[in-house]
Amino acid sequence: MLVFYTRKSLVEYLTATKTPYCEIGFVPTMGALHQGHLTLLEKSVGENKLTVCSIFVNPLQFNNKQDLEKYPRNIEADIDFIKSCCDIVFVPESIDIYPEQPTEKFDFGSLDLILEAEFRPGHFYGVAAVVKLLFEIVKPNKAYFGLKDYQQLEIIKSMVKQFNLQIEIIPCDIVRESDGLAMSSRNQRLEAEEREIAPLIYKTLQKATEIVKEKSISASKEFVFNTFVANKQFRIEYFEWVDMDSFEIISNSTQNMVGLIAVWLGNIRLIDNITISTK
Ligand code: PAF
Repeated sequence: MLVFYTRKSLVEYLTATKTPYCEIGFVPTMGALHQGHLTLLEKSVGENKLTVCSIFVNPLQFNNKQDLEKYPRNIEADIDFIKSCCDIVFVPESIDIYPEQPTEKFDFGSLDLILEAEFRPGHFYGVAAVVKLLFEIVKPNKAYFGLKDYQQLEIIKSMVKQFNLQIEIIPCDIVRESDGLAMSSRNQRLEAEEREIAPLIYKTLQKATEIVKEKSISASKEFVFNTFVANKQFRIEYFEWVDMDSFEIISNSTQNMVGLIAVWLGNIRLIDNITISTK
């Protein structure tokens, strides 16, 4: 595996290497890599000639300064973790990605107003800006994103459409720990006691799915909110069902929908989701 620390060196290498037959798969990350990232990389390796992974903790997408400061960083361990399943890792400095403040304009409509966007103002601007810049550097044919960040994936798809980028966006299933907790870089920041109770999030989503099938959206929402009010270590920020095609919050079930949740467990904010679909 080759490691590039500057945009210039990576672009030079890719320009010299890329031929019409050399498909590039790209997995952008913020490091603190885990099995979920490995799954994205393995999928890319199986589908492309060359797989590039970027590790960049993007300051622009953090609406909370403390969250940015505390975000886990361990480049050496990350590089070691992925060395056997990735061709190139790109670890740029902030100044290399943002020589100047990005001025790109995006139009995400209501996607950038609800759920994550409501609670993390500016977050998706930062995500879209960095992913667009990384796409311009790596020029991938395919890019891989985990479905845990469901709304982020919708933002990326919308950005690709807006700019007519010739990049196939590949959604990848959520990877879970054996007790159901969705894998996330933030899980490492949970205290042992918090980690023990964290699987309640997915258990609650599973139960909410049963309730929505038997009863209604409002009954499932009531159940979810009551569950987290009764478990005082958690603080729920939102739980909503959205229609998978329109990404609008719904109050009546549709055939294809996703229940999305954000909860605080101590000082750590966790998100997860569950899908009911005929697709
Ligand atoms: O999902 C992430 O890790 C980040 O939001 C991403 C896509 C790498 C952009 O910084």
